[in-house]
Amino acid sequence: MRKTTRGLLEKWRKGVPISMVTCYDYTFARLVERAEIDMILVGDSMGNVIQGHETTIPVELEDIIYHTRAVLRGNASAHVVADLPFMSYQASEDEAMINAGRLLKEGGAQSVKLEGGERIAPLVQRMVEAGIPVVGHLGLTPQSVHAFGGFRVQGRGEEAADRLLADALALQEAGAFMIVLEMVPAELAARVTEALSIPTIGIGAGSQTSGQVLVIYDLLGLNNDFKPRFVKHYASLEDVVTDALSNYREEVESRAFPAEEHSFQDRKKGA
Ligand code: KIV
Repeated sequence: MRKTTRGLLEKWRKGVPISMVTCYDYTFARLVERAEIDMILVGDSMGNVIQGHETTIPVELEDIIYHTRAVLRGNASAHVVADLPFMSYQASEDEAMINAGRLLKEGGAQSVKLEGGERIAPLVQRMVEAGIPVVGHLGLTPQSVHAFGGFRVQGRGEEAADRLLADALALQEAGAFMIVLEMVPAELAARVTEALSIPTIGIGAGSQTSGQVLVIYDLLGLNNDFKPRFVKHYASLEDVVTDALSNYREEVESRAFPAEEHSFQDRKKGA
């Protein structure tokens, strides 16, 4: 059975941290189900890890819809959140409503995530009133990377921390059922989590949030060169995959692969 917003909130009320990973395809979505992870984020981080861009800015709504559909086919248990990509909700509220609706109608997502605080609270309220569950996203919001001048920790200092808390309260007031806090000091994430009556999901936000999210390729160690402070490699798949591929190439070159057991025989000869 697929996890609902209600089920997630029940888990959170019992004090059990919520697990979330990003996922973009059928094969990994299957494995995420086997690992019993609560939530999948079809994140615009696909701009980095799937499409090879330096930022999430080039990601299109169509990309998110396409990958959300693939994920849904591989996973029947996680609550699937789909990201609203850059410029799919900033230009006009009406367009934002249509785009959020498409993530549910065409993508099959159960909720949407968008970046921003007080400024987007009226839009969040409209979405929630239309029956679209919303996850907020504060702190380092990657779609604003150029405005921030790089991927930097946010909410440092009293003024910035107070602003982030006010943003979180505005999103809660607007009806968001969860807020992602990205790259903020652990003390601030704990303060925000304590002040809210909805769960927070941290990434680079310390251990006191209501749950955690990581980009699946990061946690699996698929890129040894990418190891920011907040990422833990739970495996070193870059080496495992590279070794397997090198092995395959060597066996192709030496004709060790395919062996007889990988080949078909003529029926008459086999009979
Ligand atoms: O797109 C994404 O993967 C995200 C997470 C980093 C929270 O927004």
